[in-house]
Amino acid sequence: MSDESIDVLLSEGRTFPPPPGFRERALIGDTSLYDHAERDLDGFWLDQTRRLVGWFQEPETALEWEPPHCTWFRDGRLNASHSCLDRHVEAGRGDRIAYHFVPEDPDEPHRAISYAELLEQVCRTAGALRELGVGKGDVVGIYMGMVPELPVAMLACARIGAPHVVVFGGFSSASLGERLEGTGARLLVTQDEAWRKGAAIPLKAIADEAAELAPSVQGMLVLRRTGADVTMREGRDHWWHDAVERQAATFEAEPVEAEHTLFCLHTSGTTAKPKAAVHTTGGYLTYASATHRWVFDIQDGDVWWCAADVGWVTGHSYIVYGPLNNGATSVLYEGDPMHPSPARHWQIIERYQVTQYYTAPTLIRAFIKAGSEHPEAHDLSSLRLLGTVGEPINPEAWVWYWKTIGGGRCPVVDTWWQTETGGIMIAPLPGVTTAKPGSATRPLPGIRAEVVDDQGNPVAAGRGGYLVLRRPWPGIFRTLYDDDARYVGNYFERFGPETYFAGDGARVDEDGCFWLLGRIDDVMNVSGHRLSTIELESALVEHPAVAEAAATAAPDALTGQTPLCFVLLRSGYEPSDQLAAELRDWIGEKIGKIARPKAVIIVSDLPKTRSGKIMRRLLRDIAEGHELGDTTTLRDPAVVEEIKQKADEVLAASR
Ligand code: PRX
Repeated sequence: MSDESIDVLLSEGRTFPPPPGFRERALIGDTSLYDHAERDLDGFWLDQTRRLVGWFQEPETALEWEPPHCTWFRDGRLNASHSCLDRHVEAGRGDRIAYHFVPEDPDEPHRAISYAELLEQVCRTAGALRELGVGKGDVVGIYMGMVPELPVAMLACARIGAPHVVVFGGFSSASLGERLEGTGARLLVTQDEAWRKGAAIPLKAIADEAAELAPSVQGMLVLRRTGADVTMREGRDHWWHDAVERQAATFEAEPVEAEHTLFCLHTSGTTAKPKAAVHTTGGYLTYASATHRWVFDIQDGDVWWCAADVGWVTGHSYIVYGPLNNGATSVLYEGDPMHPSPARHWQIIERYQVTQYYTAPTLIRAFIKAGSEHPEAHDLSSLRLLGTVGEPINPEAWVWYWKTIGGGRCPVVDTWWQTETGGIMIAPLPGVTTAKPGSATRPLPGIRAEVVDDQGNPVAAGRGGYLVLRRPWPGIFRTLYDDDARYVGNYFERFGPETYFAGDGARVDEDGCFWLLGRIDDVMNVSGHRLSTIELESALVEHPAVAEAAATAAPDALTGQTPLCFVLLRSGYEPSDQLAAELRDWIGEKIGKIARPKAVIIVSDLPKTRSGKIMRRLLRDIAEGHELGDTTTLRDPAVVEEIKQKADEVLAASR
């Protein structure tokens, strides 16, 4: 953990109480939710779920806890697709827009999709999935771009009770194949190609390669998006327009137990194998919906825009399940924020009169770099709240966001959470909490977060330590797919089974506000997404020229962190700029563009202890430009000098 960043944050003394115009009409204007949850946690969550979720059979039970495992609402029965769709249509809100779909190409017509239309599409798609052999409990992979058929496919799975595994459309065939095989996905829903920055990404071709690695996949349902020629394998592959459109417009939603798996979603771990977090239906839906309402103040007439990708948890919770279950109207944008110009988001906000906008610090920094003239040329007065997620936001970026995008009228909510938590854990309630730029402020109602030392004891105010969560909440993941031992080992061993170890460093200030300090494990945060160093290293050593590899993260003004890799070559290979560039692209191909390192540096040795362990701490110090710590335990202290010099050259060149 770096102490410098801590000092910078702490010197940030500005406070921003809720703007009066906002506070007056906010859904939550006092602390009664916190009080209720403190008084009676079970009663509080039962009350929330009954208000927010459409149950076929309402639960009488809230939490059942056998640490570290828990269940929520165990005796209730529901269907997430029914709660998100049918319920609103039955209540006469079928004409309300669920999604304003904005294609990446500005000349392509936009589509407004009502709740009634969405329900019909979901029913037809569920019909097609069933015809293709998908039943309750069967895992379905989804590998798509940001098109309306992506949420449709997810909800169609939910309608059948088939857990979905969405894999971000930027992942490579190897990453996709591993994730499909790891979860035993039977069917894959994909599309011919996806638009990204004006280019067509060949998703179907990538999916074909992935299917070679994942024999569990026996069928594909393929949406035509760009109209490109793709290979369809007879008997395995089916066009969406053939299989879906001829189905009936109704499909009975399968009632499932509250603890039935709704989906699995992967997150990077500290071993090469990605972990699939398992989320269940009743608790997750309750938590995503409650936090969506509380933190973003979602009210009738609002136009909500979460500018994340549905392939990440942010999209699952705040583009699909939270907003739909709350009956909200959302913007769904297909493409890149800088396409065709850095004004694209501001144009969309102006055109749809977006009221709440949620994005990542990495994008806010890119907008700052692109220039304030872009937002200033647009009418952003419809906005009434702004949010951020994915990494710590630097106070300058926070204040720019507040002023330039929010016009000083909009609360900025910095939201801390993880794939594993299912929904937001630490964030302001925008009508109540005084914000501090750089701090996610306080745990939400019902959440008990603490910062502890190595022994698990709370640290004093202002001191850094490990962020832990002390009791279950409805949205917590229930296990890791097919690997409960790893669930227990990774998250509930360090501080005992009753304490969830988040893997982040944090400190709490005198006011009880939390300041997040980044990951403390071998995981880096690139553009708000977790990548594990081991995944990069494993990809590198697959290259014939590489004998050994070590990956670390360097700070990056735009993306937060960027991978920096060090490799030792096998004999017979000579170092060259060309080979270094080839290795960089290799990672991009093996894992996905997001993982492509800033540089791959070829060195003559790696810093190793006498027992042969790579001292990653030293590599991190080098990448972060810090003074090197103790090197006396190294087998050959001279190697760090060489590595440092090479790294400094590369980093200086890219500054
Ligand atoms: O390190 C924290 C960082 O992102 C991690 C979770 O990544 P992921 O599961 O991919 O989910 C991202 C979106 C929820 C956390 O362990 N992180 C997320 N939000 C914040 C954050 N760090 C600081 N401030 C945040 N608001």
